[in-house]
Amino acid sequence: MNKMVIDNVEIILCHPVKTPVKWIGQSEPLRQLIACWMVIAEEDLPLTPRIIGCPGIGKTTLAMAAAQQLKQPVYIMQCTSDTRPEDLLVSPVLSEQGKIAYHASPLLSAALTGGVAILDEGNRMAEKSWASLAGLFDHRRMAESVVAGITVKAHDDFRAAVTMNEDSSTFEIPDYIMSRLQPGIQIPFPSREDELRILSYNIPFSNQEILELCVSYLQQSHNLDLPYSVRDGINAIRYVLKMQHSDPDTDTETLFKNAIVQILGEDAVDLEKLAQSRKSSGEHLPSMNLGDLFFPDEDDLNPDFNEDF
Ligand SMILES: Nc1ncnc2c1ncn2[C@@H]1O[C@H](COP(=O)(O)OP(=O)(O)OP(=O)(O)O)[C@@H](O)[C@H]1O
Ligand SMILES: [Mg+2]
Repeated sequence: MNKMVIDNVEIILCHPVKTPVKWIGQSEPLRQLIACWMVIAEEDLPLTPRIIGCPGIGKTTLAMAAAQQLKQPVYIMQCTSDTRPEDLLVSPVLSEQGKIAYHASPLLSAALTGGVAILDEGNRMAEKSWASLAGLFDHRRMAESVVAGITVKAHDDFRAAVTMNEDSSTFEIPDYIMSRLQPGIQIPFPSREDELRILSYNIPFSNQEILELCVSYLQQSHNLDLPYSVRDGINAIRYVLKMQHSDPDTDTETLFKNAIVQILGEDAVDLEKLAQSRKSSGEHLPSMNLGDLFFPDEDDLNPDFNEDF
């Protein structure tokens, strides 16, 4: 068990994540993340970026791959709406002898040992919890645990990134925190070629037929701006291969269609129709300006009506 003594208090550290990952294709987001973590002059400080993209597109993988490239230990802090301020720093645990043991969170363990902390799904966390991190993510690079009664100065090698989903089950991050989580690094949908490589790397025992089928499906969904991702593809291929193993007579296309229904739902079989119905149900609302609130869209008096569009 790794321990450290800070302000005379013994803190038990958690273990870094050892799973090796490989980032395939899309070199730009990786380059941006590594640039954020660089320190290029004595007075310079690393940045703590937000990694943004739809669920399952590779946000956590990107951050892990960047940390591995820099040969730094990775600590992943899973954030939820129940994450309390102290969970992010130190949790008191009752030990065998009835004593209190202080356990550092993955985030604090990274800050103490000079590792990389990934705050995963950061925007699921409420404002109260974010408040305890303000000092850690600005020039002070310090955090205070009220529970353990300690103040921690982050190691010079400490780096962090926050991953965020673009879905609705999340909190609005307060502005003062947002200004510390800069810049935003967007992961776009991968190209056909990259997506094929990602899928075959993750499922090396797959065959070309199912890989091609799945990539065509995912690429169509990307073109229609539907939020289906590499992870959905990996799950679908795995399921098809397992089903094929138990019943080799059913054709791959039927198995893939069934997998899509069971993983993404009935609607996801016909992507064109789904995209159309999402559009008409207003999931992608057209942008509105102030003028649109006072005048109908095409009213000549509407200063924001542009006939070119
Ligand atoms: N460029 C890539 N290279 C290698 N693997 C990738 C890449 N993009 C996605 N993957 C694979 O896709 C899967 C999902 O990735 P990951 O868990 O990083 O997504 P995420 O965006 O963090 O998802 P969530 O929003 O649910 O947290 C993983 O199995 C990962 O290995
Ligand atoms: Mg993730």
